Amino acid sequence: MALEPIVLAKSISKTFSGIRVLDNVNFDICTGEVHALIGENGAGKSTLVKIISGVYFPTTGTIAVDGSQVHFRSPHAARGAGIALIHQEPLTFQDLNVTENLYLGHTRVGKNPFLNWTDLYRKTDDLLENLGVRMRSRDPVRGMSIADQQMIEIASALSQNARVIIMDEPTAALSHGEVTTLFEMIRRLKEQGKAIVFIGHRLDEILEIADRITVLRDGALVGECPTAGTTTDTLVHMMINRSIKELIVKETVPIGEVILETRGLTYPGQYYDINIKVRKGEIVGMAGLVGAGRSETASAIFGTQPAFSGEVFVRGEKVNIKTPLEAMKKGIAMVSEDRARTGLITAFSISFNMTFAVLRNIVSKFGFVKSKKEDELVKKYVKYLNVRMRGADQSVRELSGGNQQKVVIAKWLLTESDVLILDEPTRGIDVGAKMEVYKLINELAKQGKAILMISSELPEILQLSDRVYVMSDGHVTAEFNRDELDGQKIMTAASTTRHRSVV
Ligand SMILES: Nc1ncnc2c1ncn2[C@@H]1O[C@H](COP(=O)(O)OP(=O)(O)OP(=O)(O)O)[C@@H](O)[C@H]1O
Ligand SMILES: [Mg+2]
Repeated sequence: MALEPIVLAKSISKTFSGIRVLDNVNFDICTGEVHALIGENGAGKSTLVKIISGVYFPTTGTIAVDGSQVHFRSPHAARGAGIALIHQEPLTFQDLNVTENLYLGHTRVGKNPFLNWTDLYRKTDDLLENLGVRMRSRDPVRGMSIADQQMIEIASALSQNARVIIMDEPTAALSHGEVTTLFEMIRRLKEQGKAIVFIGHRLDEILEIADRITVLRDGALVGECPTAGTTTDTLVHMMINRSIKELIVKETVPIGEVILETRGLTYPGQYYDINIKVRKGEIVGMAGLVGAGRSETASAIFGTQPAFSGEVFVRGEKVNIKTPLEAMKKGIAMVSEDRARTGLITAFSISFNMTFAVLRNIVSKFGFVKSKKEDELVKKYVKYLNVRMRGADQSVRELSGGNQQKVVIAKWLLTESDVLILDEPTRGIDVGAKMEVYKLINELAKQGKAILMISSELPEILQLSDRVYVMSDGHVTAEFNRDELDGQKIMTAASTTRHRSVV
């Protein structure tokens, strides 16, 4: 198949405050093709696509569209040339319906009170049908899953005649079923002659969806290869310049008394009658599909959104936790799923964000102290998790997505609590850093922490857990000990539904 490049980015370099984050990178995007872009956290993937889609201007290098050089001054200009970047966190308006979201962004409503809405609703329905999604033009956006909101963004791009659709980690927040739907849609777009750029960390997904793969390392191009004939091993090697020998090694740790227990936790519509126990030194996995109620259960334990009824016990003592601060005082820490929103103050420095939770504890006891020990701990975790940064005083906003997540993880590890709730701890983290996080989780279990780990990644659950609860549709549908763990059994229990259909 002769592919013609729509976009040709040549010798792109980008410097932020004197630091070069992209160095002489070439990248082309062709019609009817899915071109994947992979690399470690901080390798420069998002920066490259932001340059192509008009968010940033390159320091040096050129971009040509259909053979002519362009200088996009804004994302709007890039959209005009048919290039759309789909954000990982969808930028939808919650109070509007699907059609309003599609057209209000790019139609001059203020200047045109005579918009033919009947026509727009019909157009939207055609578009949605063409995409193969079940949503309808008049559906309200509030309450929609991330996956559906992403579809709206894609539909919006198409309604503006986008020819190049760039997706930066689109599957990070999606369940397995939702990924399948997204992939079907991507294939359909490809058949219609659209060009797709796909950024991701899950290599099995990359191998499934991409036609061609480009690898970046430290801002430089490592290579480009067709997917056919490429293996995970080759890709890992290209990404991190070493191979990962053993995947995850689970260490055997003596398991002690029950530290965390819930009895009958219920929040109608979200979760029902949750009875779980986590012991000292134990890693308890919480498997299930996105939307099964796992994060909501965790929020109840951590006090972000208390349960409607039911009880929580810490070391056998009944606790009444209504806020995260109360949870922290009881020795519970949580790495939340939605790190960007609940985990970080991005305008502040890395070291501030890491020590913030610790400081609050210290403040209550001794007033504001910043100890040398903290500085050392920050240094230790930054090194351990290989956070890519200029220095610990750099603002978190300037870090790559994956490196921001490492900061949140470090923040909670620093609190040195007894119970650690990890909600999707390795989402958006590259393969190398994942192994570091796994080592850390093992290490924390060894130190005697009780760990509750929510994960949608089956290998992670299978390899690290001492015991696993499976949730589906708000209920715990199965419990397995380590010696009974089996991927198939977990998947079956995860899709046992009572009244809601699986997406
Ligand atoms: N606005 C900015 N100011 C300063 N540095 C930045 C800025 N944006 C990105 N960087 C730096 O550029 C480098 C590349 O970041 P980028 O976000 O492109 O990485 P990435 O490959 O997308 O990583 P991830 O997989 O973690 O999302 C990082 O070291 C990051 O800290
Ligand atoms: Mg990124």
